[in-house]
Amino acid sequence: MNLEDKFKFLKQKKEEAKLGGGQKRIDEQHQKGKLTARERLEILLDENSFEEFDAFVTHRSTEFGLDKLKYPGDGVVAGHGKINGKLVFVFSQDFTVFGGSLSEAHAEKICKIMDMAMKVGAPIIGLNDSGGARIQEGVVSLGGYAEIFLRNTLASGVVPQISVIMGPCAGGAVYSPAITDFIVMVKNTSYMFVTGPSVVKTVTHEEVSFEELGGATTHSTKSGVAHFACENEAEALKTVRTLLSFIPQNNLDDPPLLKATDSIDRQDDDLNFIVPENPNKPYDIKDVIKRVVDHNDFFEVHQNYAQNIVVGFARLNGKPVGIVANQPAVLAGVLDIDSSLKGARFIRFCDCFNIPLITFEDVPGFLPGTVQEHGGIIKHGSKLLYAYCETTVPKITVITRKAYGGAYDVMSSKHIRGDINYAWPTAEIAVMGPKGAAEIIFKREIEQSLDREKALEEKEKEYREKFANPYIAAERGYIDDVIEPKETRPRLIKALEMLATKRDSNPPKKHGNIPL
Ligand code: HXC
Repeated sequence: MNLEDKFKFLKQKKEEAKLGGGQKRIDEQHQKGKLTARERLEILLDENSFEEFDAFVTHRSTEFGLDKLKYPGDGVVAGHGKINGKLVFVFSQDFTVFGGSLSEAHAEKICKIMDMAMKVGAPIIGLNDSGGARIQEGVVSLGGYAEIFLRNTLASGVVPQISVIMGPCAGGAVYSPAITDFIVMVKNTSYMFVTGPSVVKTVTHEEVSFEELGGATTHSTKSGVAHFACENEAEALKTVRTLLSFIPQNNLDDPPLLKATDSIDRQDDDLNFIVPENPNKPYDIKDVIKRVVDHNDFFEVHQNYAQNIVVGFARLNGKPVGIVANQPAVLAGVLDIDSSLKGARFIRFCDCFNIPLITFEDVPGFLPGTVQEHGGIIKHGSKLLYAYCETTVPKITVITRKAYGGAYDVMSSKHIRGDINYAWPTAEIAVMGPKGAAEIIFKREIEQSLDREKALEEKEKEYREKFANPYIAAERGYIDDVIEPKETRPRLIKALEMLATKRDSNPPKKHGNIPL
């Protein structure tokens, strides 16, 4: 080959690699409403930023006639690129090659970019569209998965990891995304399950569709496995870009600052009237969050799962913060198993990646009942408590209304290293709600009175006036200040500014033993 032919050959090989499993399979992919692995990368990454590795890698199998079926790249496109100008490592599984199934070589490509991401400290994004382990390769493929699981685990808390599910993700393959920090799914074309509908039917005789068993809606509302359920692939990929705009490159980096363009002194008079006078009336905590953060811009995570707690990212004076808020508009904002898990996971993510936490608290306590007790609310609720306790990033709490019982302690109270704890004048900080408290401590008086209902009402009022306010906690210094709701934004910004150089640590240990 002369020099010219060599360049021509290279070009030809690269073109061949770009075609994956061939035009026919690409057309089939499009007919299913799905994009190809490379089209997805074009949407995900900044223009012209993708640098590919291993486009010429092929599998090494000889069984079942595979030696005659080789596709350059072997079913996954891998490399690095930029998102919002920052380095990320990506792999994008190509369903047109053996259904995106994972061979030894395919796994090695994924491991290579994961290792590189760990060395240079950059996020890892996986676009999953795969029939699982390459069946013809047997245990070698299973070994490949295990290599990835190990790296997912070692990278956890070092670099952010995001999984986008854009097709099948079944069997043990689900556990790689499950270990990553965030899962984004696409409605109607993606699904995740440990065993599919036909196995389910054989074992449990249940008839269930792919979508109902493990589609985006199921996982973003019922199981909580997925953090985002998007209408289409483009939306899913854009969601990743937005998510990364709040997250640092690694655990030693600071979250990305934006030039602040929203006034730091902005007060909001309407906030003074947002909490209804009747303590049993709901209001939407997201109204509070949006009025406080920069440009009313709140990027919610797990929007449709365990809606009695709200979590997500926003900015204050251009600095990313993680928001955790009880939601009085859903189940009165009570804490239960799902909301504890949702909150704990989010808090730990923020702590891993140096993102300060703002907690808005309005919580009547933990949800009573056999479903919760038998489901393990004790061990699950303790995860939320544990997560807040071990967190060392700046923590600011605003009690808007109820802070009752154990939930007062849990929701980033001063006693568990809350840095700045504010309360609105509408706050009720007490062991329990006034009615329940009056029923217990004035039981005898109420029983002996002629009009029990009236007696209870009076005692409830007495208790409310005495204890259901923020001032007893403030007298003790458990609350740093009682603030007018309208000044919440400037006060939070000042507190964050003061805490910017906060240093705190936990005792040296191998790792804690969070109640799993
Ligand atoms: C090899 C596979 C494959 C696999 C699909 N293909 N999955 N090749 N290994 N795991 C191939 C098909 O043979 C087909 O090749 C092409 O990919 C497209 O597949 P189709 O079946 O035509 O596509 P579709 O109808 O869309 O169905 C997709 C699917 C189905 C639901 C994913 O292919 C399927 O059920 N695959 C097997 C899934 C599975 O059981 N995987 C192992 C799970 S266990 P041709 O040449 O005909 O186009 C596992 C363990 C992980 O993954 C271990 C971790 C601990």
